Amino acid sequence: MKIFKINKKNLEDAVSLECGLTKFESRFDKKLKVDMKKKNEVRKALLKAIKNKNELLLMAVHNGENIAIMTGSIEKKYIWRTSIGYLCDLYVKPEYRKKGIGKLLLKEFEKWLRMRGIKYVELTTYDANIGAKTAYGRMGFKPYTLRMIKRL
Ligand SMILES: CC(C)(COP(=O)(O)OP(=O)(O)OC[C@H]1O[C@@H](n2cnc3c(N)ncnc32)[C@H](O)[C@@H]1OP(=O)(O)O)[C@@H](O)C(=O)NCCC(=O)NCCS
Repeated sequence: MKIFKINKKNLEDAVSLECGLTKFESRFDKKLKVDMKKKNEVRKALLKAIKNKNELLLMAVHNGENIAIMTGSIEKKYIWRTSIGYLCDLYVKPEYRKKGIGKLLLKEFEKWLRMRGIKYVELTTYDANIGAKTAYGRMGFKPYTLRMIKRL
């Protein structure tokens, strides 16, 4: 398995993986839709992120198949008056899960953050996504703040 930085050449593969994540998450959030509009938005966001030195976009490839994606960034954490890492997306195709690939991609991101003097990394995930919550716990994350929502 190889890990590549996402660039313009493998952009469409990255868009497909990102849409795989949205499709997966739509079971927790019925408002999420994977349509042409979404694909165009994802493509635009990835293109912008590729050019941003504060973003790291990685893709894992095994035997020519794109199997996982990780996107992360450095963000200002205003209440701490410092910058921290933000793990935006992590998605491994179903048949390749629980083989250490998610952990490996996270490790690459953490290495990249440490090299930039960053001391913390945070993420958000759906409360109902038990698999991701368990996996992130195994990767060293702890619950921190709780985001709540109310329908009006
Ligand atoms: C969450 C996800 C990225 C984890 O990636 P992965 O490659 O399967 O994770 P790893 O194999 O690196 O596992 C890391 C640890 O978490 C554990 N783990 C992973 N998935 C788990 C699950 N569903 N239930 C329980 N434990 C799990 C592994 O056993 C491993 O534990 P260990 O280090 O003690 O052996 C992957 O399951 C996935 O893509 N899920 C769907 C998309 C998603 O929910 N993404 C997160 C939203 S932001």
